[in-house]
Amino acid sequence: MGRVTASAPGKCILFGEHAVVYGQPAVAVAIEQRISVKIETLASDSKNWKIDGMEFNPKRHPHVQALRNRIWQSGQGAPNLSIQITGDIPPASGLGSSAALSVAASAALRTARGRWYNESEGQKTKHWSEGYSSYFDDPGVYSTNKREFDSFRHGDDGKAVRYVAGENTVDVDECALLGHAVEAAAQGGRASPMDASTCAHGGIVLLSDQIETNEQFLYTRRLTTPEGQRLWHLHSIELAPAEEQVYLVIGNTGVYAPTAQQVAKVAEALQENPERIREIETIGLIARRGIQSLKDGDYRAVGRAMTENQIMLQGLGVSCPELETLIRAAAPSSLGAKLTGAGGGGCMVALTTNPKATSEAIELAGGRTLISTFGNVGLTIEESENLPLWATEQDTGSQ
Ligand code: MEV
Repeated sequence: MGRVTASAPGKCILFGEHAVVYGQPAVAVAIEQRISVKIETLASDSKNWKIDGMEFNPKRHPHVQALRNRIWQSGQGAPNLSIQITGDIPPASGLGSSAALSVAASAALRTARGRWYNESEGQKTKHWSEGYSSYFDDPGVYSTNKREFDSFRHGDDGKAVRYVAGENTVDVDECALLGHAVEAAAQGGRASPMDASTCAHGGIVLLSDQIETNEQFLYTRRLTTPEGQRLWHLHSIELAPAEEQVYLVIGNTGVYAPTAQQVAKVAEALQENPERIREIETIGLIARRGIQSLKDGDYRAVGRAMTENQIMLQGLGVSCPELETLIRAAAPSSLGAKLTGAGGGGCMVALTTNPKATSEAIELAGGRTLISTFGNVGLTIEESENLPLWATEQDTGSQ
């Protein structure tokens, strides 16, 4: 029987959460903790998908359902799947577990499905006959209506003439775009592409309101949110080697905090008082300064900017007493600390040269800790066998 396993890292936001939803700059790093998604086909008489051995419930796994609608449509003859999700990213804690799941699942589905190309030669995006890419600039990928997407979407120039299956059909941009689209659907139409792009590309990802000429530009994402059009330019950044090794110590409060609610809370605060957009802009200024310090390798200044960013997040109302306790506990042994992700619970992060002391202080204050270095590897296909998992006669006839 065929199978595919893909994995993606979680992410930790160093600067700019919430403000990034309004187009301000932000930076996130891929952490060591990952999620793996393994897919296999089920026997042809099975009635439904299975997730971790249980009957698939779209309400419990809205991200998987949204991906299924986009690239694995039963109306097109796609077989039922068994999915196993494993990993060490705590769910709903601000570390990108749902984005990592979406990115890994879309890579696994694409590997299992393969892709049609317009040309008999070449597999560049411009040759695609189906799929999703920033190259096509297609707002339809974000549509939240119930309509199933047409898997055979035509690219630039003409008819599908060639089908290819396997790992080399995976495209990181496509997985990041699908990840963003399904996050946006789950967050009431308000989501920056930060989580999905960091989990897909790995390393360190910078979002900016302008194209940064000194950074490696990835792509531009656009999204129509309830508050209007948003646009983000995404980049991958390289860091100067540090004089001293620095670590991220992440402290989990264990308080469940769904991102959608926190994002809606900020949107309401801005609706009630539009002047508060100044606070969002100030977070943007702090983020820009922090990002420059990161590039300069000045980690003391990075830590200070993180602490300033936390004061602004507190003012916005997205921190909570449990987060504050862990941040205070980390302060004496770290360069700076703040909540990371949507807040209201979930995790904080401390930047430190002494991860043992910082981790112990956070644990003593009641948090569970994870230690990570900066910039880990992104989306990876771990294994694949007997592909494709879904091929029509038309597909195989074209090879
Ligand atoms: C969530 O990890 C980060 C937020 O800024 C939301 C988003 O960027 O979509 C709170």
